[in-house]
Parts: sequence; structure tokens; C-alpha cells
Amino acid sequence: MAISSKIESFLQSSSLIRKMFEEGAKLKAIHGVQNVCDFSIGNPDVPPPPEFQKILEEESLNTDANIHGYMPNAGYLNVRSAIADYINKEQKSNLENKHVIMTTGAGGALNVILKSILNPGDEVLVSVPYFVEYKFYCDNHGGILKTVPCTDDFDIDVDQFEKSITDKCAAVIINSPNNPSGKIYPEKTLKKFAEVLRKKSSETGRTIYLISDEPYRKIVYDGVEVPGIFGIYSESMICTSYSKDLSLPGERIGWLAINPSAENCDKIINAAILCNRILGYVNAPALMQRVVGRLQGVKIDVNVYKRKRDALCGILDENGYDYFKPEGTFYLFVKSPDKNESAFVELLKQNLILTVPGSAFGVPGYFRISYCTDDSYIDKSAEGFKNAMNEFMSGISQ
Ligand SMILES: Cc1ncc(COP(=O)(O)O)c(C=O)c1O
Repeated sequence: MAISSKIESFLQSSSLIRKMFEEGAKLKAIHGVQNVCDFSIGNPDVPPPPEFQKILEEESLNTDANIHGYMPNAGYLNVRSAIADYINKEQKSNLENKHVIMTTGAGGALNVILKSILNPGDEVLVSVPYFVEYKFYCDNHGGILKTVPCTDDFDIDVDQFEKSITDKCAAVIINSPNNPSGKIYPEKTLKKFAEVLRKKSSETGRTIYLISDEPYRKIVYDGVEVPGIFGIYSESMICTSYSKDLSLPGERIGWLAINPSAENCDKIINAAILCNRILGYVNAPALMQRVVGRLQGVKIDVNVYKRKRDALCGILDENGYDYFKPEGTFYLFVKSPDKNESAFVELLKQNLILTVPGSAFGVPGYFRISYCTDDSYIDKSAEGFKNAMNEFMSGISQ
């Protein structure tokens, strides 16, 4: 066998998004890139803020010996201090630099913490809809991802979690603002959720960790706030990155922060630093650490995404689509008029619109639009959304 049988099966199961990508490339070759509205990938199109360019230029001029050398596996201490200070302001917490570990993006942070806490066969629970990579990240470290249904408005269904948590549960992952729904979990829900985690931890006799994946925290609209998790649940950690809020996904820079109130905080920190090293990351990219350390609180212009969201909501409203209005992120989760959302995604494709079926996120019957794309594609998509809806309606009335 040429490759691992597990990876062989992963290649099959992850083929949905790959298939979309390949078919999208084909469509663009036939119809021209400018005529295909590609809403399939969450790759930010807003440029990084001007402060980024300025600081990047300044940092690139540094010729100190060892400036590009190895460093402590957790990252530069001054950068970690700057981030700890920022988190403390945001969450009224009391982190020190030791509680922050620089990582290769949020994906790196998630892998580091999962490797640090999981034993083979441990379960990690997540509410649907969820970021598809979680399943693979858990498996990387011997864990099993279990999905839990959400409420009708994409909130955490706390009662469902209470029923689903067993003594195999090591952690839960939350992602708010959520990819793909754009939902921000309210403080009230999180407090109720924390109560259940505490209760279940004492019933099962093992600590259930709460991993909060927050790469979209700063991309929020209409004054809705993302509650801080550190004050709500002590056994918690945050994984995040500058991929979305500074538009730097290719630079692979983010961090993991451990709640200072966690019972085994220092042990977890030591484990995470070792895991950052032995996963082969060694340390997060040096130049980018120095740059983001000086950009605390800076973000891309969120109004650009708000404008795109509102334009798309207008198009969907005009054509009779039902959807959840995103409170954050740059995704729109739309109810498929056809119960079989893959068939409707195909119909959209025939109308030169590329989206991702909700099944990829554990919620069939929906599809996801990524609107981090040029305004011209959003304008152009109005006709395709209208035609697809008309074609579907005329199909059912025949
Ligand atoms: C919910 C969620 N978590 C994590 C990631 C990974 O982010 P990063 O590029 O920083 O690794 C993404 C990327 O799209 C995401 O949507």
C-alpha cells in the first residue's frame, strides 16, 4: 500500500471541499475567472491594515545577530507579554507572559493543546456546525471528535451536551463567532454551559477542558460582543490567530493562551511548549511574532465585510432565501430550498456560483457562502441566486 490506510480514508472523506475546489477551477477555465462567483473558500481578500506594512518594513531591517535564529519554543517573551496584556484588557483576566504560547496559526494552537491533553480514545465534543478540520486534529492525537446538535438558531444546546458527555470526554471545543454560521454564543449560554461542564467533571471524576477557538473574535458586526471565556470557566484555553483579523493566513501566526485559574495550569503550559516543539513547529515564525507583537488591538477594516454581508443579505432577501444573519465572521449559512443541499449547490454551480454544502460542517440542508471576496462577485451573484431559485421552484411545481 502506497500510503497509510487511515489517510487513504481521510482523502475520501475530505474530498467534498477538494472536489468543489477542482470543479471551481474547471468552471473558471471555461467561463473566465471574472464570471465565476467563488464563495467556497475563507481566504480573506481585505488587505492587511497599513500599520502592518509599516511595522513589517521596520522589523525586516533588523540585522542583529541571531534575529532569524531559534528561540524558546514558546516564542519571544516580549511578544508574549504584549499579548497577555492585551488579553487582560479584553477579558479582565490576569495572565502573565508564561500563559501565552506563540503558535503557527490557530490550527497549530489547536494541535498543540489537543496533543497536550488527549489520551488514546478520549472524546472531544463540539456543537454543529463545526470547522471540518477539528475531526482530523483530534485524530492526530488519538482523540475522537463527537458532534452535538445545536439549537434552531445555531446556539450551543446545553441539554444535548449534558446528555452526550461521558467519562471518555476530555474536552469540548467551541468556536464563536462560528464558522460557518456566523453565530456568537451569548454569555448566558456560555455560563449555563460552564455549569454543565463543572457538574459533569465532578460526576465523571475528570476535568473537562474547554477549548475556545477564536480566530474571528474581532470580525463582529452591529456592536455584538464576544464574551470572554476565561472569567466564565477556569479549565479553559484560547486558540487563535491573526489569519482573519489581520488578513495573514499564509504567514501562519497565532497563539494559545491557558487560563491562569486552571487547576494544572503550569503543567499544561509545560506540556504545550513541549508539544509545540515535538510536533515539528519548533517555534512560531520569528519575524511575524515580532510584527504582531507590535500590532495588539489593530485589525482590518471590519466595515468592508459588513458591507459585503449586507449586500448579500439583500440579494438573498430579494430572492426568497432563508438564512441566519451572521453576527460575525465572513460566512453566511443559508437554508437550502432543496432538502438535498448538494443538489442545490450543484444548481448554483450551473449558475456559476460556488458554495459549500452544509454536510461538510455537520448540518445538511444548508450551504455556506464565504463573502471575503471582491464586491463585483457579490453583485454578479444576484442573477445566479435568482435563476437558481426560479429553476428550483419551477422544478417542484411541475
Ligand atoms: C474556525 C476555524 N478555526 C481554525 C482555523 C484555522 O486558522 P489558521 O489559519 O489560523 O490556522 C480556521 C480557518 O479557516 C477556522 O475557520
